[in-house]
Amino acid sequence: MSIDPRIKIRKASENDIKDICRIMLSTDPYVTLGYTEDMCVDTVLSGLEEGWTAVAEYEGEVVGFIIFRVFDGFPLGGYIRALAVDRRFRGKGVGKALMRYAEEIIFRYRRNVFLLVSSFNYDAIRFYRSLGYEFVGEIKDAIVEGFSEYIFRKKRSF
Ligand SMILES: CC(C)(COP(=O)(O)OP(=O)(O)OC[C@H]1O[C@@H](n2cnc3c(N)ncnc32)[C@H](O)[C@@H]1OP(=O)(O)O)[C@@H](O)C(=O)NCCC(=O)NCCS
Repeated sequence: MSIDPRIKIRKASENDIKDICRIMLSTDPYVTLGYTEDMCVDTVLSGLEEGWTAVAEYEGEVVGFIIFRVFDGFPLGGYIRALAVDRRFRGKGVGKALMRYAEEIIFRYRRNVFLLVSSFNYDAIRFYRSLGYEFVGEIKDAIVEGFSEYIFRKKRSF
């Protein structure tokens, strides 16, 4: 799928927190994982201060976000901390464009990108596999009892 040219990715700022939390708190896995408004604001603020945060705009509206780290957060590589696309805008290449943005930055410095995906999040697992991510491990009962977090990895191709 080619990425819709109306999708623009830009660095986020504190002005985007409201839109990011609206998107994050209205979707799984964050609902099932028990995310609250405070947890979301903390996650975004730490993303803005200690890592990278970007948002996707579709014709000027914020429709998705990604929070990631390059140098810390995971041994051996960069780490995608959080990602979500507004339900109304899924399937248009927004998630792919956000991942491409993060990978482009991480692969400048590191050989691997890591992320965690919840075992119940089948759609996201298929999404990450389509982008070349591979399952490398499982953390049982990681956040919610009975559910695992799967560790996925993508290797730089050069
Ligand atoms: C996962 C998510 C970010 C994907 O975003 P999206 O904008 O809908 O995905 P895209 O349109 O960019 O799709 C990119 C590729 O993934 C594939 N894909 C996306 N969703 C898929 C799904 N549910 N099942 C199978 N493949 C899927 C697309 O077919 C496309 O592949 P292609 O380029 O080969 O055609 C989005 O569904 C989402 O926000 N989910 C809820 C939050 C979440 O689970 N975040 C991840 C936390 S670890």
